[in-house]
Amino acid sequence: MSNLPPDMDPIATLDLAITDAPAAIEAASSLDELEGVESALLGKGSPVGEVRRSLGQIEADLRPKVGAKLNEASERIRDLLEERRLVLGRVEEARTLREEAIDVTLEAVSLRTGSLHLVQQTIDEVVDIFIGLGYRVAEGPEAELAWYSFDALNTPPTHPSRWDTDTMYLDWGDPEAEVHLRPHTSPVQVRWMERHEPPVYVVVPGRCYRKDTIDATHLPVFHQIEGLAVDSGIEFGDLKGTLLHFAREFFGPTSEVRLRPHFFPFTEPSAEMDVSCFACDGGVTGCRVCGGAGWLELLGCGMVDPNVLDAVGYDSSQLAGFAFGMGPERLAMARHGIDSLRHFIESDIRFLGQF
Ligand code: PHE
Repeated sequence: MSNLPPDMDPIATLDLAITDAPAAIEAASSLDELEGVESALLGKGSPVGEVRRSLGQIEADLRPKVGAKLNEASERIRDLLEERRLVLGRVEEARTLREEAIDVTLEAVSLRTGSLHLVQQTIDEVVDIFIGLGYRVAEGPEAELAWYSFDALNTPPTHPSRWDTDTMYLDWGDPEAEVHLRPHTSPVQVRWMERHEPPVYVVVPGRCYRKDTIDATHLPVFHQIEGLAVDSGIEFGDLKGTLLHFAREFFGPTSEVRLRPHFFPFTEPSAEMDVSCFACDGGVTGCRVCGGAGWLELLGCGMVDPNVLDAVGYDSSQLAGFAFGMGPERLAMARHGIDSLRHFIESDIRFLGQF
């Protein structure tokens, strides 16, 4: 039984199907929709399907013509469907690729470049200046024995620096077995001379410990750079000339130094050295760096006491030397106008990042 309306001419039906197909196919916007369009155009209930089904009932002389038209219609429509399927397939593939794309890149973490701590930068700079003068670098242990920190350095058993109120002891009480955290880098003078023949030209950077409460000018853990020169014919003028050279390298070529008498058990004579204030060039009231003094107190120094040379087995009748000890924290404070030692240990990136 044909579903075609009895008045419908199959050829006209097929022509109409051919004419209508392109618009319907073009209107499909996805492969799913296109499937629906396909069954509407070629499926059982479609006009083309109906003609196919009713083919047997068509009069025999008309049948070949209708059959040929039917094939033509089916083919044309199928070709159009196929073309559209290719287009929609590509569109959908592109969309899938876009929507399901996985971003395999990780967001880059931008690392800030760090720098050495100001104290280490200062140590490196000072050491470089002395290397330029032919000095070698020596190091020694932070846990020390009384011989190196005190006895060989001409420091009597009664000296207050040996009390446990000044020095931090790891083992305390038995004078033979006492171990302390060194309160200065001077013990490395002794350690070096015990193991090396003169002449000696060494600098000794290192960490030191004292029983001090933290404030703007004291830290219980701090640094020193020791210097020691022992040779024949060394005089006080060599000490002053060496330190003046250092001051001009470190603070600038117009720097002056002055030496004030002082006392250290291991040097004789002893002195403290000041450097002219680089910020005000001498005695400006209220100078931020020197406070108007015109000078910055910098380091301790002196001629090596002959008792120290004797203690390490050097011939104090043939040799002489000078020594000095300076704090890199103090040097950095003087140069940069830093008002408190606390800045060095607070790890505040706003402070550290400036250097
Ligand atoms: N060791 C002394 C101090 O810590 C500094 C110093 C070193 C003085 C060498 C003279 C010679 O204060």
